Amino acid sequence: MTYSIIDHFFDVVVVGAGGAGLRASLGMSAAGLKTACITKVFPTRSHTVAAQGGISAALNNTNDGDNWRYHFYDTVKGSDWLGDQDAIEYMCKNAIDAVIELEHMGVPFSRDEHGNIYQRQFGGHTIEHGKSMAKRACAAADRTGHAILQTLYQQCLRHNTEFFIEYFTLDLLMDDQGICRGAVAWCLDDGTIHRFRAHMVVLATGGHGRTFFTCTGAHTCTGDGNAMVLRAGLPLADMEFIQFHPTGIYGAGCLISEAVRGEGGYLTNSLGERFMLKYAPNAKDLASRDVVSRAIAVEIKEGRGCGPNKDIAMLHMEHLDPKIIAERLPGMHETARVFAGIDANKEPIPVQPTVHYNMGGIPTNYHGEVTKDSQETVVQGLMAIGEAACVSVHGANRLGTNSLLDLVVFGRAAAIRAKEIIRPGSPHENLSDTVTSIIINRFNKTRYASGNLITGCIRTNMQQIMQNHCGVFRSQENLDSGIEKLFECAESLNDLQVNDHSLIWNTDLVEALELQNLMSQAIVTIHSAAYRTESRGGHAREDFPDRNDKLWLSHTLAWCDDNLNVKLDKRPVHMYTLTNDVDVIQPQKRIY
Ligand code: FUM
Repeated sequence: MTYSIIDHFFDVVVVGAGGAGLRASLGMSAAGLKTACITKVFPTRSHTVAAQGGISAALNNTNDGDNWRYHFYDTVKGSDWLGDQDAIEYMCKNAIDAVIELEHMGVPFSRDEHGNIYQRQFGGHTIEHGKSMAKRACAAADRTGHAILQTLYQQCLRHNTEFFIEYFTLDLLMDDQGICRGAVAWCLDDGTIHRFRAHMVVLATGGHGRTFFTCTGAHTCTGDGNAMVLRAGLPLADMEFIQFHPTGIYGAGCLISEAVRGEGGYLTNSLGERFMLKYAPNAKDLASRDVVSRAIAVEIKEGRGCGPNKDIAMLHMEHLDPKIIAERLPGMHETARVFAGIDANKEPIPVQPTVHYNMGGIPTNYHGEVTKDSQETVVQGLMAIGEAACVSVHGANRLGTNSLLDLVVFGRAAAIRAKEIIRPGSPHENLSDTVTSIIINRFNKTRYASGNLITGCIRTNMQQIMQNHCGVFRSQENLDSGIEKLFECAESLNDLQVNDHSLIWNTDLVEALELQNLMSQAIVTIHSAAYRTESRGGHAREDFPDRNDKLWLSHTLAWCDDNLNVKLDKRPVHMYTLTNDVDVIQPQKRIY
C-alpha cells in the first residue's frame, strides 16, 4: 500500500502539546522560528491537565525563609543523589522567574490574603535542609496543570505556532549520519500521511505509565517519543526508576493529590495507626513519595492493610474544614466521590501506591539536547523535554511539584538553545526516500496485521507482567522471571490482529502502534531494573537493600534492537554545578 505523502517544511517540529511541548513551542515561535506542534490529542487534553497539587518555586510568599538553594538541596536529596546537580541547579534557580512568567502570561493561581500566589506544603520540600517543611508549591486550587496548560496554549496561538492536532507521529526521520531531519505523522481525522522536515525535532511526548496495569496516567501515556528513540538506535536512561504515587484511588488508580497531605491530611493502617510516624519521624506523611509508597507496601505486606483484601491504606481529610476542602481541594473531593463513591468530608479515602511518573527517559543535557552514549555525545537535530526526557533533575525519585517546573524550565531552555543554533528559514538537506519508506512499511505491517491476538489481550498481559515483576519491591529472581515472560509477550506481537484497516479514526490501529511503543519501553525498564544491583529512590531491591554509591552513582543507559536484544551501559552522575552560586551536595544517608 502506498500513500501520497504531504510534505511540510519547518525550522522546528515539537511533538507533544503538554506543558513542556507548549512551553517550547511558544518560546521557539516567539524567537522567530517557524514552529509546528504535532499532537495526538487536543492540546488542552494532554496529560499535564491532570497535574494537581502545584508547581514548585522558592517564592517565599509565606515568609518561611525559603530560597532556591534549599529547593536545590531538597531536590538532590529527593533524587537519592542520582540527579545531575548542574541540571538541578539550573531548574531550581530558574524556578522563581518561570512561575512569575506563568503568572504574567495569565495562569489563574490561587491567592493568599495579601494577593500573592498561594503556596502550600508538599512532600520532601523543606527549609534549612529538613529543619521544617517549606510552603513551596504554587497552586491553582488542585487543578494547577489544567490552569497552566490552558494559558500556554493561548500563548502559543498568540505567537502563531502551527498546530497539527490529532496527528499520530509514526517515527523520526534519521539520516545515515544519525542526524534527525524531521518526523512522519498520520492524520487521524482524514487519514493522510505527512512528512515534516525540520532542523530540530523536540520530543515532548510524556511518560509511559501505561506499561503498568494501574497508573494515574491517562491511557494516552504510552511514551511514543521514547519508543521512536529506541527504534532510531539511541538509548533511554534510568528506565528502572518508576515513581509510585502513594495515594492512587484503590481500584481506579486515579490520583488523589499529595496536596491533601500538604493541607493536613494523613494516612492510617488497619489498626488506625498513623504509620508514617514510624517511617519518617520528622516529615511524617510529607516524606518523599518513594518513602511513603514503600511504607504503605510494608504495612500491607505485614498484614496491616485495610479492606477485605488487606491491601489498602486510608487517607484522611474528613477532619479538615469543609470550607478549606471546597476552596483548595475541590477536585479531590469530586474524584473521591466519583471513583471511590465516598464523601471525603465524612470518610477516609481508600488508596494504594500507583504508578505515577517516569524518572527515566530520553537522555539529554540541560539545554534539552538528546545525548547518545556515556560520553554524552549530542544527537544533532533532536531534543527531548518533560517527562519523555531524563535531563536528569529527578534522579531516582521526583519530588511532587517538580514535574510542572521541569516542563516549563526545560521547555524554555530548549527554545533558548534552538534560537542559538538554528537560522530561521535555512534550507533543508536532501534526505533519501528510503528513510520514509521504512517508516511506511512498518506502519503497513501493523495496519494489516492478521494474527490471532487483539491488542488489548497482549497489552493486559504486558501490564500485568510489569505490575507483578517490576513493582515497588523487586528481586533478581522475580525480575528475571519477568524478563522471560515479557520476552514471550513481546514475541506474541508477531501474532497481532488489527481488524480495522481504515485510516480514519482507526483507534484499533492507534492502540496497536501504542502497544508496540509500550512494549520496547517495558523491556528496557525491566532489564534496567535487573541490571541495577542496589536500592535507590524508586528502585527498591529486596536482595540489595542498600544504596551503593561506589558502584552505582551512575545513570543506566539501555538500547533495544528490533530483535529485542537489550544492551546496557552506565554514565556517571554530574557531581558538579554550573556556577559557584551553590555547593555540590555530597551523598549522605537519606532520612526524612
Ligand atoms: O500529588 C500531586 O498533586 C502530584 C503532583 C506531582 O506529581 O507533581
